[in-house]
Amino acid sequence: MEQDQPATDCKLDQMSQGIIGKPISRSEGFAKVTGTAPYAAEYPIENCLEGVLVTAPIARGKVTSIDVDAGLEMDGVIAVVEDERMIARPAQGTAGEAPVQQPRQVCYWGQPIALVVAETFEQARDATKHLAITFDADDLKDVPFDPHQVEPESQESSSQGDLAKAMNDAPHSIDAHITTTGHASAAMEPHSAIAEWDGNMLTVHSSLQMLNYNIAELADSLDLKEDEIRLVSRYVGGGFGSKLGVSEETVAASIAAMKLNRPVRVVMSRQQVFQCIMRRSETSQRLRLAADNDGGLTGFGHQALVSNLPGESFAEPVLQSSHFLYGGENRLLEMDVARIHRMTAGSVRAPGEAVGMPALEVAMDMLAEESGVDPVELRLRNIPESHPIKGTPFSSHRLAECLKQGARQFGWDGGSRQPRHTREGEWWIGTGMASAARVHNISEAKARVTIKADGTAVVETDMTDIGTGTYTILGQIAGEMLGLPRDKVLVELGDTQFPRGSGSGGSWGASSVGSAVFVACEALRKSLAERAGVAEDKLKLKDGAIQNGVSLVDLLEGEDLSEEGHYEPGDIDDDYVAASFGAYFTQVRVNHFTGETRVERMTGAFGFGRVLNETTARSQCIGGMTWSIGAALTEALHFDPVDGHLVNCDLAEYHVPVHRDVPDLQVIMVEERDPAASPIQAKGVGELGVCGGAGAIANAIYNACGARVMEFPMTPDKVMARMPDD
Ligand code: MOS
Repeated sequence: MEQDQPATDCKLDQMSQGIIGKPISRSEGFAKVTGTAPYAAEYPIENCLEGVLVTAPIARGKVTSIDVDAGLEMDGVIAVVEDERMIARPAQGTAGEAPVQQPRQVCYWGQPIALVVAETFEQARDATKHLAITFDADDLKDVPFDPHQVEPESQESSSQGDLAKAMNDAPHSIDAHITTTGHASAAMEPHSAIAEWDGNMLTVHSSLQMLNYNIAELADSLDLKEDEIRLVSRYVGGGFGSKLGVSEETVAASIAAMKLNRPVRVVMSRQQVFQCIMRRSETSQRLRLAADNDGGLTGFGHQALVSNLPGESFAEPVLQSSHFLYGGENRLLEMDVARIHRMTAGSVRAPGEAVGMPALEVAMDMLAEESGVDPVELRLRNIPESHPIKGTPFSSHRLAECLKQGARQFGWDGGSRQPRHTREGEWWIGTGMASAARVHNISEAKARVTIKADGTAVVETDMTDIGTGTYTILGQIAGEMLGLPRDKVLVELGDTQFPRGSGSGGSWGASSVGSAVFVACEALRKSLAERAGVAEDKLKLKDGAIQNGVSLVDLLEGEDLSEEGHYEPGDIDDDYVAASFGAYFTQVRVNHFTGETRVERMTGAFGFGRVLNETTARSQCIGGMTWSIGAALTEALHFDPVDGHLVNCDLAEYHVPVHRDVPDLQVIMVEERDPAASPIQAKGVGELGVCGGAGAIANAIYNACGARVMEFPMTPDKVMARMPDD
């Protein structure tokens, strides 16, 4: 189906099973925590060779020679595979974000240039250290944001009125420059693949988010047809964007398996994951806010500079939510991209908002102080009626509700916001808040649902579950629609032999593939109603039986009943602005002598359409808020200015928040249905938790100790540099 109209009466609410939205634990959780859920590299495959990628020790230049003989003489080494197809290319017209560089032409430090294949992993790894490789290194003119290397990104830009004049005329104005650093996805499972070639068919177990696109990317890279490839990703140990496209280990394993006629496994080391896999771009942002005496915005400016490799089309969409979050007649939104020689910049959880929203929310905090309006009140006053430029209505909008409920639960008192109000020994204590916003994405998806003769059901789609709860929620949707308890529905994911799902990306998974399952179940209900001789809208299904007591098993008379659901986004996209909203409130303590910040408590209130499963949705919010803590305080990619290599390329030096850094996070899920967002009235939640939270922490640091830091992350050195003298 295509959605052209809001789905005001959703069947999910008229069903009898009563499992939709319920806090049901993950169906694959037991297998995961007991170590029996196989991840990509863990499939026991006989006769499997081990491959280790050889990477470039220069950031820019050419590989002039690789002396493979030295490697080939070593024990157990089978081959050194050099192949220009090794670097995956995105297939035309797909959303893939695989790199476009050629291996002999080095564009960033750590770029894969060859693969050593040996009988054991240790032999292969050893050989990579003994290959004599020569390079012609070019000068590293990659000083970020070299003005000669900057191109405008006009699709992201828009303007209206005269911002400069509004800034001039306004009684209150803020002109703030804020920077953010590069981020790594830092998924637990490294990028890995096992490829097998039987002469006709290439089977690849890999860790991927979007099999529906990845199969086209791999086919294109290898010059195969899609029906000559089977991709399997049943369990994915985190993706966060880094597995949206196929990366080098998958392509290299495939090439080697086809050349050598033996299965080949390639697992990136943790360092290679950091060095080769896409990063989030660093950003430099200018925020200009002009407001009247009451804090009502009259001007809104957000300009951003981001970076990527030459030739790459992705540009961190920093302004994505700034287009519609707050009003202000005079507007200027502009984005530029600088070309630099660092690994590809791509999607990292909540591309755009994860760095754009914190910067905007710091500027809003500055405006609150400047205008004397409470930060919560300031945001409430500036929620627009409709899209500030296009005038398009919002599909649903719970920002005000989130601000109010969050403030109430947190105990935000609306009192004085004077910094440095509370000190306990060495520690300053303060509070801060920020809004959250994230665009709603939805995508085409297919899923097959079968009711088996034994009265159980099976859902099949090549959709992935990257730790988000997809297995569980798809079973809940099918169970609710077909009147089956959750454990009577088997969900099979992550295999391209199944119908094409939406893939997991952009927080669209649940609403997209959830809608495909919903559509398939609607068709199944029709068939069941016919068999039962009742009208479909009168058909009541619960616990495997219909209202007159006849069981599904009897109704099916030994047959299986199968339907494929196909969901496609329709024109409704043009009629509404659909987005998820939220608010964060936090209390921090900042050490007066060291500048160390500890987050003491944090409340997040979020509205994202129908909650499909309270437990898995809450976990997504907690995950996002945890990312907010990392973005605020510790996470940063550091590049060597001399040779361009990534300095902190492991989890000891790239600091994600650990258990001790994260307090008990309070999550409020604000009741909401969004009929225009999807047939099941759900929007995305996976990324919402990181869309502004770092701003709340920054604002709390200022409120605590008076240090207004303009560079994320707010490490102790930066806090100390801004700490007021006293
Ligand atoms: Mo997401 S960063 O689109 O996986």
